[in-house]
Amino acid sequence: MSTRSQKLHASPYSKLALIYDDIMSHVDYRRWAQYISAIIERYNKETNTILDIACGTGSLLLELYREKYQLIGFDFSFDMVKKAREKRITSNDLFFYQGDMRFFSLNLKVDAALCLYDSINYLTEFDQWKLMFDCVWRVLSSGGLFIFDICTEKNSIKYFSQYIESNAGENYDYKRESSYDKRKNVHINKFAINFDHEYEQIIESHVQRIYLLNEVEKLIAESKFHCLGIFDGFSFRRGSENSLRVHYVLQKVV
Ligand SMILES: C[S@@+](CC[C@H](N)C(=O)[O-])C[C@H]1O[C@@H](n2cnc3c(N)ncnc32)[C@H](O)[C@@H]1O
Repeated sequence: MSTRSQKLHASPYSKLALIYDDIMSHVDYRRWAQYISAIIERYNKETNTILDIACGTGSLLLELYREKYQLIGFDFSFDMVKKAREKRITSNDLFFYQGDMRFFSLNLKVDAALCLYDSINYLTEFDQWKLMFDCVWRVLSSGGLFIFDICTEKNSIKYFSQYIESNAGENYDYKRESSYDKRKNVHINKFAINFDHEYEQIIESHVQRIYLLNEVEKLIAESKFHCLGIFDGFSFRRGSENSLRVHYVLQKVV
């Protein structure tokens, strides 16, 4: 990786958005979409409309589009949203906008709300989860599903304790350094990106809080949602601290 003395600190996903799809090319969104469809098929077959909270560059929604749902996505980062919009097949097929998962509303009800790829770990306090849960409750139709995932502490310790990755693409190179502070339950990913067309090196620091499963279960028990499942990875087996990723399936029962 080349080094540049001038650094520019950018907000999370503002510059990473330009290379996100490239560096996430290993992620199998087709498989993820099939898993979400299987959950929907099992728990709420009547699902037509889906909201993807923290949709990123829209890759999951594009896969779900093939399954013929009506889809809306929003993300905090406008640069991620811009990328998502570029991928739309026609201007009407998918709707993407900028929004904050802690404070959002919609002028329609959706049958499922998703928040995936550990996006919820960006909320660093349970008070913020509560705000989000309230927003989700309000936008869901009766019987609607709320599906989210977290990455576990095992994942942070096993794969990202002192992790360094360097790579290059067509007009950039980058270095990612990850660390996990077990005392604070904080996982940090620092990206240093050199674009051919930029003089400065771009630095983005991403802070995620890692939650224990029993903490999450307590929060769910205190919420209005009914918990349908806590699943290991992309399965229907019970998730645990031994899982690397855990999917939660909640339902609005009124
Ligand atoms: C790891 S990416 C996942 C993106 C997408 N779900 C995917 O599967 O590719 C995390 C995303 O969470 C978004 N995010 C972080 N905090 C947010 C917030 N408060 N509201 C909405 N989106 C947020 C980021 O902008 C980023 O796009």
